Amino acid sequence: MMTYLAVFGATGNLMYKKLLPAFAALQAKGLLPVDTKILCVARSPYTTSEYLSIAKEQVKELIDWNELAKIVEYFQMDFFSPQSYERLHQRMKDQIHTERLFYLAVGPELFGTIAKGISESKLIEKNDPTGRIVFEKPFGEDLSSAKSINALLWSYFDESQIYRVDHYLGKEMIQNILVMRFANRLFEHNWNHQAIEKVAIIAKEKEGVMNRGNYYDHVGALKDMVQSHLMQMAALVAMEVPKSFDDQGIRAEKVKVLKHLSVNKNRILMGQYLGYQAEQNIAIGSQTETFVFLETHIDTPRWKNVPFYFLTGKMLDEKKSEIIIDFKDNAEQALLWPNQPIMKNRLIINVAPGEGVTFRLNVKKFGLSNQIDSMAMDYCHDCAHIGNKPEAYERLLLDLIKGNSTLFTRWDEIETSWKIIDEIKAEPYQPLVYSSYETLKNQINQLIGEELF
Ligand code: BG6
Repeated sequence: MMTYLAVFGATGNLMYKKLLPAFAALQAKGLLPVDTKILCVARSPYTTSEYLSIAKEQVKELIDWNELAKIVEYFQMDFFSPQSYERLHQRMKDQIHTERLFYLAVGPELFGTIAKGISESKLIEKNDPTGRIVFEKPFGEDLSSAKSINALLWSYFDESQIYRVDHYLGKEMIQNILVMRFANRLFEHNWNHQAIEKVAIIAKEKEGVMNRGNYYDHVGALKDMVQSHLMQMAALVAMEVPKSFDDQGIRAEKVKVLKHLSVNKNRILMGQYLGYQAEQNIAIGSQTETFVFLETHIDTPRWKNVPFYFLTGKMLDEKKSEIIIDFKDNAEQALLWPNQPIMKNRLIINVAPGEGVTFRLNVKKFGLSNQIDSMAMDYCHDCAHIGNKPEAYERLLLDLIKGNSTLFTRWDEIETSWKIIDEIKAEPYQPLVYSSYETLKNQINQLIGEELF
C-alpha cells in the first residue's frame, strides 16, 4: 500500500522549521511505511531538485538530504484551480491501494478552498478512512470563523478524517502528564483542591516575532499560544480519569475541563514588548499583545478555589515551557517546627527545554543540625537520549500515518477554547509596554497580591 502525504504550504516556515526535519528523522529511523511519498505542494514553479536546494538553505537542522530526496517530490499547483486538484488526483490515486493524507500548513483563510478542492476532486471521500486531512493551528481567528471553517469541513469530511494539530500534544512531557498523574498514587491521590494550592501553566519565549510579523500581528499571544497550547496543557492537568485511554476517552474529559474554565476578568495582564512596533510587517500603532497573564478557575468539585494561572509571552527572560503545581501548607508542620522555614511542596513538569520533573521536598539538614532544609528531586527525562529525541512533529506525523487521532484536538475542544478567548478579547485593554520580564513579574505579584513563583 502506498502512503501519499501531500503538504500544502511546502515553501513556508513550518515546513522548513519543523516538518521536513521530522520527515527526515522518521526516514532515518526507518519508521515511515516502505512506500511513502511526501508531495511538497506550493504555488511556485519549481522542479523537485530546485525545491530541495532551496529547502537546504532554509532548514537549520543537519539532515540526510540524500535519504530525504528518495521520498520527497515537489508538486506545483494553484490552490484555487479545480484542474490542479485533478492533476493531484492523477498523481496520488494512480495506484490501486493508497492512503492519501493532506497536511495544510497554510493560513486558516485557505482551509476552506483547499478542503473543497480535495473533496470535489474525490481525493478524499467522506467516511473513507484511507483519506485524512490535517489542519495546522490556528483553527480560525475567533469562535465565529472557526465555526464556519468547521461547518464547511464537516460538509466534506467525517470528523474521524479531520486532524487538528496542536504540536504541544506531541511533546514528550505533555504526554507524560497523564502517566505521572494516573500511574502514581502519590500524585493522583493529592491531585485536588485539598492538597493543591495553585497551578501555573507557562510558556515563555526569549525571541520576538522574528520574520512572522505578518501572521503574528493579526493574532497576538492569546490566540497564538493560550487558545491552543496552554489550554491543552491545563486540560490534561485538570481532567478527570478518562473512561479509556484512547482518543475518545481522553478528549471527552479534556473538553469537560475547558467547559468549566472561567477567567477572572480582574486578573488579566497583557503586554507588548518594547520594540515590537519596529519589527517587520507590524501595523503602525499596533495594540497586539505579545504577553499574557491570566488567572482562571475550573469550576468542578476537584478544583474548588484553586487558581490556574496562564503565562506566556515573547521577549522574556528565557525560553521555557513548564507546569508548576504548588501544594498547600500542612498546618501540622507549623506546630511541630514553629520557627523553621518549611517550604511548600512544589512539582514542576519541565516541558522544554530540558524535559523532566522536579519535586521540592523538605528534609533535615545534614549533620548535627536539626534545621529543616528544602531540596529538589530532579528527574531528567531526556538526559539518556541526547541526539535521539523524537521531536513533537515526528510523533504527530507518525500518528497521522497510523490513523491515531488521540494527540490531535477535537472540534468541541477548539470551540470551547475559542469561546473563552472571545470573552477575554471583548474586555477593554491597553497593553503594558515591557522591556524586561522583571517588570511583568512585579505587576503580576501586585495583581494577585502574592509572589506567584
Ligand atoms: C507556535 C506559535 O504554535 O508555538 C509560535 O505559533 C511559538 O509563536 C511556538 O513560538 C512555540 O513552540 P515551542 O515548541 O517552540 O515551544
